[in-house]
Amino acid sequence: MKELYDLSYSLLNKYVKLKRLQWHAYATEAIMKDLAVYLNEDKDKWGIAGLLHDLDIEFTYSDVTKHTLETKVILNNLVFPNDVIDAICMHNDKASNQKRSEKFHFALSSSDALSGFIAYVISAKHSNLIKELHVDSVYECLLDHNFAKHYDKTPIFEYEYLKIDIKTFISIGVDAMKKASNKIGFNN
Ligand SMILES: [Fe+2]
Repeated sequence: MKELYDLSYSLLNKYVKLKRLQWHAYATEAIMKDLAVYLNEDKDKWGIAGLLHDLDIEFTYSDVTKHTLETKVILNNLVFPNDVIDAICMHNDKASNQKRSEKFHFALSSSDALSGFIAYVISAKHSNLIKELHVDSVYECLLDHNFAKHYDKTPIFEYEYLKIDIKTFISIGVDAMKKASNKIGFNN
């Protein structure tokens, strides 16, 4: 699995050039890995799915009906595990037409949304200082309908399929992003 992980990092560097998108990939990876450990799932597979879920976003983003389909072609040619490819495709069901059905799928969809939301909370409420972030701050922002109205929070609530409570889910996300702070563009 180490070889596949190394390959995943080089793919990310090859296809994702914008720093903020790289940070988002690393943040989602960090959450997925810690979530996998908490749920006794495959840490490497979940981490790779987090890292590569938006691999084609820079060349498909204007068309949500294509996002993930290009990633599927790239990963299929390199013989990535099918369940990793499926989870990545299913995080954008507008393109894949495949409905999320397993923990892995819901974990990726909710972690993707949570990592983006946490990043938004840090910049909007904590002057970009990740060390000041607390679980309750994210929780309150999530329940505040006037906060980040433009942000689609719906996928975050797929954490329910993981059979954990919301504070645990947010706490795993916050802690994972704090540990990865030097890779995801936030000051300590
Ligand atoms: Fe994403």
